Amino acid sequence: MLSQETIDIIKSTVPVLEQHGKTITTVFYKNMFEAHPELLNVFNHANQSQGRQQTALANAVYAAAANIDNLGAIIPAVVQIAHKHKSLGITPEQYPIVGYHLLGAIKEVLGDAATPEIIGAWGEAYQVIADAFIGIEKEMYDKAEQMDGGWRTFKEFTIADKVVESDVITSFYLKPIDGQPLPTYKPGQYITIRVTIPGETYTLNRQYSLSQATTDDTFRISVKREDECNPNGKVSVFLHRGMNVGDTLEVSAPAGDFHLDTDSDAPVTFISGGVGITPMMSMYEYIAKNTPERQVAFLHSARTRKHQAFNDKLTELNASLPASKYAVLYSEEGDGFINRDFLASNVIEGSDIYVCGPMAFMQAVIKELYALGIPEEKVHYEFFGPAVQLELAHV
Ligand SMILES: Cc1cc2nc3c(=O)[nH]c(=O)nc-3n(C[C@H](O)[C@H](O)[C@H](O)COP(=O)(O)OP(=O)(O)OC[C@H]3O[C@@H](n4cnc5c(N)ncnc54)[C@H](O)[C@@H]3O)c2cc1C
Ligand code: HEM
Repeated sequence: MLSQETIDIIKSTVPVLEQHGKTITTVFYKNMFEAHPELLNVFNHANQSQGRQQTALANAVYAAAANIDNLGAIIPAVVQIAHKHKSLGITPEQYPIVGYHLLGAIKEVLGDAATPEIIGAWGEAYQVIADAFIGIEKEMYDKAEQMDGGWRTFKEFTIADKVVESDVITSFYLKPIDGQPLPTYKPGQYITIRVTIPGETYTLNRQYSLSQATTDDTFRISVKREDECNPNGKVSVFLHRGMNVGDTLEVSAPAGDFHLDTDSDAPVTFISGGVGITPMMSMYEYIAKNTPERQVAFLHSARTRKHQAFNDKLTELNASLPASKYAVLYSEEGDGFINRDFLASNVIEGSDIYVCGPMAFMQAVIKELYALGIPEEKVHYEFFGPAVQLELAHV
């Protein structure tokens, strides 16, 4: 337990540290990677270059510190991060390394303002926060390992099939090399894949949503080739161009808290943009297999028909379900974007809503959903990168 004095110091210094949030985490990562280059095998270098991970870490640390006497209030955020950590095989032994460099960065950035009392208090607070993460992650690892066919961190898989779904999206069917059956997962969850790319110094990890409902022996991921941007997407291009049937890669156990509430039979609306369609496919298939009477709307936006994956499958599922609606807009073919009118006429009233797509897409869609009076607790969304605050202020 922290003393009241420590709590007071933490609470009074959070605003100052928040002000320097991203500077501190940027210094933190630089120093930590210099001292522990092996951690570059775990972190996503593109997220570092874009500053998203630094922002996400700063936000998380300060949110936790601001609630240090009531960590229960931020459990949902901790759980979401813990899922990501679990999918990357983060261990308790790595927490002191992060703590040491985080405190070091606070000292370096604040200089004399960081008195020994302040650093001491933050050291204690970090330990409390780290213990919360370590405890939740241990439960997750144990649970993953105890499931039928489950495992703890990474396991070797082979590519059993590779199927082109659209001009930019290709599916990979993955089977465990040890031939064990696969654990069930919640529709919407993701896996991390770890690959070694020739010419790269470090291993690369990326998350991919499972894009079909659970089967006994195969995971499917569907990957968009990110080669239209500069610099090109390392892992997605490697998967598309360099990985073929019979090749192997490491795969984490399924993780993630963006998933269909499978205990409910309430109506549900899926809204996706581009490759954000993948977790929705898993959820939609789950409904088709298990609760076909459930009322569902599948709303999707793609640039063109040729960019869109799964149209045939969606048409087939939609036709097979008695209470389903499927609508797609091709923004570059004259259909425009998903807007308030489209949502007003297509979102099922009172439904649970799941949103996934590029950041600008999610921001626009969620803003409109709130503007239509839909309560926040009905809207669930997933970032295909570190979670950051959406700018929804002008709703
Ligand atoms: C929970 C979750 C689920 C996901 N599910 C899917 C899915 O189902 N399908 C899917 O395709 N993707 C999914 N993703 C995204 C996926 O994990 C990868 O981020 C994506 O494939 C891009 O990885 P990459 O290695 O190809 O690109 P990266 O090399 O990581 O590059 C990503 C972007 O960053 C830019 N970039 C890279 N380096 C720099 C730099 N130095 N400076 C500035 N910009 C830079 C690139 O131009 C590119 O736009 C998911 C992500 C998460 C977190
Ligand atoms: C209390 C301490 C920690 C906090 C508050 C924290 C916070 C975060 C946050 C907010 C994210 C982003 C989650 C998202 O994707 O939305 C994240 C991701 C991550 N964390 Fe932590 N973390 C902590 C400890 C650690 C430790 C000890 C390690 C191991 C070295 C670690 C490694 C990672 C990695 C590799 C990612 C994914 C980064 C990426 O994809 O770019 N974290 N963490």
